[in-house]
Amino acid sequence: MMGRRDGLMRSSSNIHQSFRGSRIVIAIAIGILMGCVFAFFYPNGFFHPYRPQTSTLTRHSKSFFQGSLSDCEADERINILKADTVKLTEKNSDLMKQVRELNEKLRLAEQGKDTAQKQYLALGEQPKAGPFGTVKGLRTNPTVVPDESVNPRLAKILEEVAVRKELVVVLANSNVKEMLEVQISTVKKAGISNYLVVALDDEIEGYCKSNGVAVYKRDPDDGVDAIGRSGGNHAVSGLKFRILREFLQLGYSVLLSDVDILYLRNPFDHLYRDSDVESMTDGHNNMTAYGYNDVFDEPAMGWARYAHTMRIWVYNSGFFYMRPTIPSIELLDRVADRLSKEKAWDQAVFNEVLFYPSHPGYEGLHASKRTMDFYSFMNSKVLFKTVRKDPNLKKLKPVIIHINYHPDKLPRMKAVVEYYFNGKQDALNSFPDGSQ
Ligand SMILES: *[C@@H]1O[C@H](CO)[C@@H](O)[C@H](O)[C@H]1NC(C)=O
Repeated sequence: MMGRRDGLMRSSSNIHQSFRGSRIVIAIAIGILMGCVFAFFYPNGFFHPYRPQTSTLTRHSKSFFQGSLSDCEADERINILKADTVKLTEKNSDLMKQVRELNEKLRLAEQGKDTAQKQYLALGEQPKAGPFGTVKGLRTNPTVVPDESVNPRLAKILEEVAVRKELVVVLANSNVKEMLEVQISTVKKAGISNYLVVALDDEIEGYCKSNGVAVYKRDPDDGVDAIGRSGGNHAVSGLKFRILREFLQLGYSVLLSDVDILYLRNPFDHLYRDSDVESMTDGHNNMTAYGYNDVFDEPAMGWARYAHTMRIWVYNSGFFYMRPTIPSIELLDRVADRLSKEKAWDQAVFNEVLFYPSHPGYEGLHASKRTMDFYSFMNSKVLFKTVRKDPNLKKLKPVIIHINYHPDKLPRMKAVVEYYFNGKQDALNSFPDGSQ
């Protein structure tokens, strides 16, 4: 396996070299081609554009300056001169057109090369299409080669904490300590051992150490961590995209978790692992969670009044599983980059980067994605609006519950623990569906 990866790496650098080499060849070819074009139209040199017409021109101008011409003759000569100018202008614009076409061909060639190169890197070989109904595109991208040098200290921690190269990662500072405590109590009950807290201050680090919870505190001289120590919920949310990068670079799959999440079972028994990103949804039924065709009605358009649109409720950026692949890392980078430049909600940016297609002036991310089952990975709208009122759904034990839809997080978290772990049947009843 390692040998194959090494091979892939080597051939990738060969490709880079030959790619660079072939660009030079293309540039030379264009130079020669343009030289031929100019030589054809301007055999006597480019800087004397009237030379090709010397015979006619000098003939006309000689007699033109000899004086003894009738008005009629002069008019005729002026017309011939005008015609010559028009011809030259036409030739010039032909030439420009050819140059433009050449440029376009060059652009397309480079584009094709780029795509082919990426495909080669992803697949290793070019496949033939199989028979009807048997072809299947790539969702499971290859994982990156782990690079311990990016953070040897973290690499050591992950070696101890991760199970089968995957783990839950949660960022916390002391503003959210009480929620973290409730979460950790559920993590222990659910028997999840590969759980790591990224402590953003000393208090959280101390709390984890004294409670037997694996903890990683980043180096204090790292600039981004100032946000972590003092930041509110949203600032910390932006930070997580930067911090996660190293985990993926080290070759680990990460299940990123907010603190307002309760673990009723081990999530690693309920993942598909077939996509770059596998995320819980903010949706609350099959349509909103998994996508639907939303028809927009514009009566003024008459026959074409119905416009079909693709809709899906956003992925929840507080709970997602990421495989250590190039598209995953690109997603993290692009989200972190945008959050550093504009004041935006990280979840909105996360979804825009994940879902918007390429279009003029923008190259979309091509990450494969999977929406988690919204009853297994349950948001608090589903719990409080639907599940707690439905005798059948009430009996099912989800994998996790995320109190994302309600601001009174701590009491609702405690109520969930009472209901699902301690069998207190009425624990959820006192809360309104939404916030009041
Ligand atoms: C939602 O989808 C699941 C699985 O695709 C299906 O079994 C179920 O019947 C659907 N529910 C509704 C209300 O359509």
